[in-house]
Amino acid sequence: MSKLALKVTAVEELTPLVKRFRFEDPTGAPLPVFSGGAHITVEMPDGDTIRRNSYSLISDPYDPSGYEIAVRREDTGRGGSRHMHTAVAEGDTITVSVPANLFQLDLRARKHVLIGGGIGITPFLSQLRQLDRAQQPYELHYAARSRAEAAGIALLPQAAHIHVHISEEGNRMDLGAILDGHPLGTHVYTCGPEGLIAAVADQAARLGWPTSAVHSEAFTAPPPGEPFEVTIASTGQTVAVKADQSLLEALEQAGVEIDYSCRGGACGRCETAVTACDGQIEHNDHWLSADERAAQTKIMPCMSRFTGTRLELDL
Ligand code: FES
Repeated sequence: MSKLALKVTAVEELTPLVKRFRFEDPTGAPLPVFSGGAHITVEMPDGDTIRRNSYSLISDPYDPSGYEIAVRREDTGRGGSRHMHTAVAEGDTITVSVPANLFQLDLRARKHVLIGGGIGITPFLSQLRQLDRAQQPYELHYAARSRAEAAGIALLPQAAHIHVHISEEGNRMDLGAILDGHPLGTHVYTCGPEGLIAAVADQAARLGWPTSAVHSEAFTAPPPGEPFEVTIASTGQTVAVKADQSLLEALEQAGVEIDYSCRGGACGRCETAVTACDGQIEHNDHWLSADERAAQTKIMPCMSRFTGTRLELDL
Protein backbone atom coordinates (compact mmCIF):
# COMPACT_ATOMS: atom_id res chain seq x y z
CA MET A 1 0.00 0.00 0.00
CA SER A 2 1.44 3.41 -1.01
CA LYS A 3 2.19 5.67 1.92
CA LEU A 4 2.68 9.40 2.43
CA ALA A 5 4.75 11.07 5.16
CA LEU A 6 2.75 14.20 6.00
CA LYS A 7 3.04 17.06 8.47
CA VAL A 8 0.32 17.68 11.05
CA THR A 9 -0.55 21.33 10.35
CA ALA A 10 -3.61 21.77 12.58
CA VAL A 11 -5.26 20.05 15.54
CA GLU A 12 -8.59 21.48 16.66
CA GLU A 13 -10.86 20.35 19.49
CA LEU A 14 -14.37 20.33 18.04
CA THR A 15 -16.01 18.91 21.18
CA PRO A 16 -14.46 17.45 24.35
CA LEU A 17 -14.52 14.06 22.56
CA VAL A 18 -13.77 14.93 18.94
CA LYS A 19 -10.66 16.48 17.40
CA ARG A 20 -10.08 17.52 13.83
CA PHE A 21 -6.59 16.90 12.35
CA ARG A 22 -5.17 18.43 9.17
CA PHE A 23 -2.22 16.88 7.33
CA GLU A 24 -0.22 18.49 4.51
CA ASP A 25 2.79 17.57 2.42
CA PRO A 26 5.88 19.01 4.21
CA THR A 27 7.07 20.64 0.96
CA GLY A 28 3.62 21.99 0.07
CA ALA A 29 3.29 19.55 -2.85
CA PRO A 30 -0.29 18.69 -3.85
CA LEU A 31 -1.71 15.47 -2.39
CA PRO A 32 -3.55 12.84 -4.47
CA VAL A 33 -7.21 13.82 -4.87
CA PHE A 34 -9.92 11.43 -3.73
CA SER A 35 -13.67 10.93 -4.03
CA GLY A 36 -16.36 11.52 -1.39
CA GLY A 37 -16.47 8.73 1.20
CA ALA A 38 -12.76 7.84 0.90
CA HIS A 39 -10.59 6.99 3.91
CA ILE A 40 -6.91 6.98 4.82
CA THR A 41 -5.12 4.64 7.20
CA VAL A 42 -3.06 6.45 9.84
CA GLU A 43 0.01 4.76 11.35
CA MET A 44 0.53 5.23 15.10
CA PRO A 45 3.68 3.91 16.78
CA ASP A 46 2.75 2.24 20.07
CA GLY A 47 5.69 0.66 21.92
CA ASP A 48 7.11 -2.12 19.77
CA THR A 49 4.13 -2.17 17.44
CA ILE A 50 2.49 0.13 14.89
CA ARG A 51 -1.25 0.59 15.18
CA ARG A 52 -3.08 1.46 11.99
CA ASN A 53 -6.57 2.97 12.10
CA SER A 54 -8.64 3.96 9.08
CA TYR A 55 -10.47 7.31 9.16
CA SER A 56 -12.82 8.89 6.62
CA LEU A 57 -11.54 12.03 4.97
CA ILE A 58 -13.75 15.00 5.83
CA SER A 59 -12.05 17.63 3.67
CA ASP A 60 -12.87 18.75 0.13
CA PRO A 61 -12.06 15.87 -2.27
CA TYR A 62 -10.99 18.41 -4.90
CA ASP A 63 -8.60 20.33 -2.64
CA PRO A 64 -5.11 18.77 -2.89
CA SER A 65 -3.57 21.13 -0.29
CA GLY A 66 -4.33 18.82 2.65
CA TYR A 67 -6.31 15.98 4.17
CA GLU A 68 -8.55 16.35 7.22
CA ILE A 69 -9.96 13.69 9.53
CA ALA A 70 -12.10 13.83 12.70
CA VAL A 71 -11.30 11.40 15.50
CA ARG A 72 -13.65 10.59 18.36
CA ARG A 73 -11.82 9.59 21.51
CA GLU A 74 -12.80 6.07 22.64
CA ASP A 75 -11.29 5.41 26.04
CA THR A 76 -12.50 1.81 26.08
CA GLY A 77 -11.03 1.02 22.65
CA ARG A 78 -7.58 -0.38 21.86
CA GLY A 79 -5.76 2.92 22.09
CA GLY A 80 -5.67 4.28 18.51
CA SER A 81 -8.04 7.20 19.07
CA ARG A 82 -6.52 7.90 22.48
CA HIS A 83 -3.09 8.10 20.83
CA MET A 84 -4.41 10.57 18.26
CA HIS A 85 -5.93 12.70 21.03
CA THR A 86 -3.01 12.66 23.45
CA ALA A 87 0.18 12.15 21.41
CA VAL A 88 -0.32 13.85 18.04
CA ALA A 89 0.42 17.58 17.86
CA GLU A 90 0.95 20.29 15.26
CA GLY A 91 4.36 19.98 13.63
CA ASP A 92 4.54 16.17 13.99
CA THR A 93 5.18 13.96 10.99
CA ILE A 94 2.63 11.24 10.45
CA THR A 95 2.50 8.35 7.99
CA VAL A 96 -0.78 7.73 6.20
CA SER A 97 -1.91 5.57 3.28
CA VAL A 98 -3.03 7.13 0.03
CA PRO A 99 -6.85 7.47 0.03
CA ALA A 100 -9.02 4.46 -0.82
CA ASN A 101 -12.78 4.51 -1.23
CA LEU A 102 -15.09 1.69 -0.13
CA PHE A 103 -18.15 3.94 0.25
CA GLN A 104 -18.55 5.79 -3.02
CA LEU A 105 -21.57 7.72 -4.18
CA ASP A 106 -23.37 6.20 -7.15
CA LEU A 107 -23.30 9.21 -9.42
CA ARG A 108 -25.96 7.70 -11.72
CA ALA A 109 -28.53 8.25 -8.93
CA ARG A 110 -31.27 10.83 -9.48
CA LYS A 111 -31.08 11.84 -5.83
CA HIS A 112 -29.03 10.88 -2.76
CA VAL A 113 -30.33 10.39 0.80
CA LEU A 114 -27.52 10.29 3.36
CA ILE A 115 -28.26 8.96 6.88
CA GLY A 116 -25.64 9.12 9.64
CA GLY A 117 -25.47 8.42 13.35
CA GLY A 118 -22.79 9.28 15.92
CA ILE A 119 -19.31 9.76 14.42
CA GLY A 120 -20.75 7.95 11.36
CA ILE A 121 -21.24 11.38 9.85
CA THR A 122 -17.60 11.66 8.72
CA PRO A 123 -17.69 9.98 5.26
CA PHE A 124 -20.64 12.20 4.32
CA LEU A 125 -18.67 15.40 4.87
CA SER A 126 -16.54 14.87 1.77
CA GLN A 127 -19.54 13.48 -0.11
CA LEU A 128 -21.53 16.69 0.60
CA ARG A 129 -18.80 18.73 -1.05
CA GLN A 130 -18.73 16.40 -4.04
CA LEU A 131 -22.53 16.55 -4.40
CA ASP A 132 -22.59 20.34 -4.00
CA ARG A 133 -19.95 20.70 -6.68
CA ALA A 134 -21.75 18.30 -9.04
CA GLN A 135 -25.05 20.09 -8.25
CA GLN A 136 -26.72 16.75 -7.54
CA PRO A 137 -29.87 16.75 -5.37
CA TYR A 138 -29.43 15.27 -1.90
CA GLU A 139 -30.63 15.43 1.68
CA LEU A 140 -28.76 14.46 4.82
CA HIS A 141 -30.19 13.21 8.12
CA TYR A 142 -28.03 13.00 11.20
CA ALA A 143 -29.33 11.28 14.33
CA ALA A 144 -28.17 11.16 17.94
CA ARG A 145 -29.73 10.49 21.32
CA SER A 146 -28.65 13.82 22.79
CA ARG A 147 -26.74 16.92 21.71
CA ALA A 148 -23.88 15.82 23.98
CA GLU A 149 -23.58 12.60 21.96
CA ALA A 150 -24.01 14.32 18.59
CA ALA A 151 -20.32 14.87 17.97
CA GLY A 152 -20.97 15.35 14.27
CA ILE A 153 -23.05 18.54 14.62
CA ALA A 154 -19.88 20.61 14.88
CA LEU A 155 -18.80 19.27 11.49
CA LEU A 156 -22.01 19.87 9.56
CA PRO A 157 -22.70 22.93 7.44
CA GLN A 158 -26.05 24.69 8.00
CA ALA A 159 -28.38 24.14 5.06
CA ALA A 160 -32.06 23.51 4.46
CA HIS A 161 -31.45 19.99 3.18
CA ILE A 162 -29.35 19.00 6.23
CA HIS A 163 -31.50 17.73 9.11
CA VAL A 164 -30.39 16.98 12.68
CA HIS A 165 -32.59 14.59 14.72
CA ILE A 166 -32.05 14.59 18.50
CA SER A 167 -34.29 11.98 20.21
CA GLU A 168 -33.96 13.59 23.64
CA GLU A 169 -35.49 16.77 22.18
CA GLY A 170 -38.49 14.85 20.80
CA ASN A 171 -37.13 14.99 17.28
CA ARG A 172 -36.42 11.29 16.78
CA MET A 173 -35.48 10.20 13.26
CA ASP A 174 -38.51 8.71 11.46
CA LEU A 175 -37.01 6.39 8.85
CA GLY A 176 -40.39 5.62 7.30
CA ALA A 177 -40.96 9.29 6.51
CA ILE A 178 -37.36 9.89 5.44
CA LEU A 179 -37.31 7.01 2.97
CA ASP A 180 -40.76 7.55 1.51
CA GLY A 181 -41.72 9.54 -1.58
CA HIS A 182 -38.41 9.91 -3.40
CA PRO A 183 -38.11 9.79 -7.19
CA LEU A 184 -37.31 6.43 -8.75
CA GLY A 185 -33.51 6.12 -8.99
CA THR A 186 -32.82 7.64 -5.55
CA HIS A 187 -29.99 5.98 -3.59
CA VAL A 188 -29.67 5.85 0.21
CA TYR A 189 -26.38 5.68 2.11
CA THR A 190 -26.10 4.88 5.83
CA CYS A 191 -23.09 5.17 8.10
CA GLY A 192 -22.99 4.61 11.84
CA PRO A 193 -23.90 1.91 14.35
CA GLU A 194 -24.97 -1.47 12.98
CA GLY A 195 -28.48 -1.02 14.45
CA LEU A 196 -29.01 2.10 12.34
CA ILE A 197 -27.70 0.40 9.21
CA ALA A 198 -30.02 -2.58 9.76
CA ALA A 199 -33.02 -0.31 10.47
CA VAL A 200 -32.48 1.66 7.25
CA ALA A 201 -32.06 -1.54 5.23
CA ASP A 202 -35.27 -2.98 6.77
CA GLN A 203 -37.32 0.13 6.14
CA ALA A 204 -35.98 0.48 2.59
CA ALA A 205 -36.91 -3.16 1.85
CA ARG A 206 -40.41 -2.58 3.26
CA LEU A 207 -40.88 0.43 0.99
CA GLY A 208 -39.66 -1.50 -2.05
CA TRP A 209 -36.25 0.12 -2.56
CA PRO A 210 -34.04 -2.07 -4.77
CA THR A 211 -31.08 -3.44 -2.76
CA SER A 212 -28.70 -1.98 -5.37
CA ALA A 213 -29.82 1.51 -4.25
CA VAL A 214 -29.08 0.88 -0.54
CA HIS A 215 -25.47 1.44 0.57
CA SER A 216 -23.84 1.37 3.99
CA GLU A 217 -20.56 1.62 5.84
CA ALA A 218 -20.26 0.28 9.39
CA PHE A 219 -17.76 1.76 11.82
CA THR A 220 -16.10 -1.21 13.42
CA ALA A 221 -12.84 -1.72 15.24
CA PRO A 222 -11.23 -5.09 15.93
CA PRO A 223 -12.52 -6.44 19.24
CA PRO A 224 -10.01 -7.47 21.89
CA GLY A 225 -10.10 -11.07 23.11
CA GLU A 226 -8.01 -13.91 24.45
CA PRO A 227 -4.42 -14.18 23.11
CA PHE A 228 -3.85 -16.91 20.50
CA GLU A 229 -1.22 -18.17 18.09
CA VAL A 230 -1.15 -18.78 14.34
CA THR A 231 1.33 -20.64 12.15
CA ILE A 232 2.47 -19.37 8.75
CA ALA A 233 2.23 -22.36 6.35
CA SER A 234 5.08 -21.30 4.00
CA THR A 235 7.69 -20.81 6.73
CA GLY A 236 6.43 -22.64 9.81
CA GLN A 237 6.79 -19.34 11.74
CA THR A 238 4.55 -18.98 14.78
CA VAL A 239 2.98 -15.57 15.43
CA ALA A 240 1.51 -14.71 18.83
CA VAL A 241 -1.54 -12.40 18.86
CA LYS A 242 -1.96 -10.40 22.06
CA ALA A 243 -5.30 -9.73 23.74
CA ASP A 244 -5.48 -6.10 22.55
CA GLN A 245 -4.03 -6.72 19.09
CA SER A 246 -5.71 -7.84 15.89
CA LEU A 247 -4.34 -10.81 13.94
CA LEU A 248 -3.50 -8.36 11.13
CA GLU A 249 -1.47 -6.17 13.51
CA ALA A 250 0.37 -9.21 14.89
CA LEU A 251 1.23 -10.43 11.37
CA GLU A 252 2.49 -6.96 10.40
CA GLN A 253 4.58 -6.76 13.56
CA ALA A 254 6.11 -10.16 12.72
CA GLY A 255 7.03 -8.92 9.24
CA VAL A 256 4.49 -11.09 7.40
CA GLU A 257 3.30 -9.37 4.20
CA ILE A 258 -0.48 -9.02 4.07
CA ASP A 259 -2.76 -6.78 2.05
CA TYR A 260 -5.41 -4.57 3.65
CA SER A 261 -7.57 -1.50 3.09
CA CYS A 262 -10.47 -0.90 5.51
CA ARG A 263 -9.07 -2.75 8.57
CA GLY A 264 -12.71 -3.14 9.61
CA GLY A 265 -13.82 -6.41 8.02
CA ALA A 266 -15.67 -4.83 5.09
CA CYS A 267 -13.46 -4.66 1.99
CA GLY A 268 -12.23 -8.24 1.61
CA ARG A 269 -8.62 -7.24 0.93
CA CYS A 270 -7.10 -9.16 3.84
CA GLU A 271 -8.96 -12.42 3.14
CA THR A 272 -6.62 -15.29 3.94
CA ALA A 273 -7.04 -19.02 3.37
CA VAL A 274 -6.82 -21.32 6.37
CA THR A 275 -4.83 -24.52 5.78
CA ALA A 276 -5.38 -26.12 9.19
CA CYS A 277 -7.79 -25.30 11.97
CA ASP A 278 -8.31 -27.16 15.21
CA GLY A 279 -10.65 -24.88 17.10
CA GLN A 280 -13.11 -22.09 16.44
CA ILE A 281 -12.58 -18.98 14.30
CA GLU A 282 -14.46 -15.96 15.74
CA HIS A 283 -15.57 -14.29 12.53
CA ASN A 284 -16.10 -10.61 13.33
CA ASP A 285 -16.09 -9.38 9.71
CA HIS A 286 -18.87 -8.33 7.33
CA TRP A 287 -17.24 -9.96 4.32
CA LEU A 288 -17.46 -13.76 4.48
CA SER A 289 -20.75 -15.53 3.77
CA ALA A 290 -22.45 -17.73 6.34
CA ASP A 291 -21.25 -20.82 4.43
CA GLU A 292 -17.67 -19.55 4.31
CA ARG A 293 -17.76 -18.86 8.05
CA ALA A 294 -19.07 -22.33 8.83
CA ALA A 295 -16.44 -23.98 6.61
CA GLN A 296 -13.60 -22.30 8.59
CA THR A 297 -11.37 -22.29 5.51
CA LYS A 298 -11.02 -18.48 5.34
CA ILE A 299 -10.32 -15.75 7.88
CA MET A 300 -10.28 -11.94 7.78
CA PRO A 301 -7.23 -11.09 9.92
CA CYS A 302 -8.20 -7.42 10.40
CA MET A 303 -11.17 -8.39 12.59
CA SER A 304 -11.33 -12.08 13.41
CA ARG A 305 -9.81 -14.09 16.23
CA PHE A 306 -9.39 -17.75 17.13
CA THR A 307 -9.82 -20.06 20.07
CA GLY A 308 -8.29 -23.49 19.86
CA THR A 309 -4.99 -25.29 19.60
CA ARG A 310 -3.91 -24.84 15.98
CA LEU A 311 -4.63 -22.30 13.22
CA GLU A 312 -2.41 -22.38 10.11
CA LEU A 313 -2.65 -19.66 7.46
CA ASP A 314 -1.84 -19.93 3.75
CA LEU A 315 0.75 -17.15 3.86
S1 FES B 1 -8.75 -5.05 5.51
FE1 FES B 1 -10.74 -4.84 4.73
S2 FES B 1 -11.66 -6.75 5.30
FE2 FES B 1 -9.73 -6.82 6.25
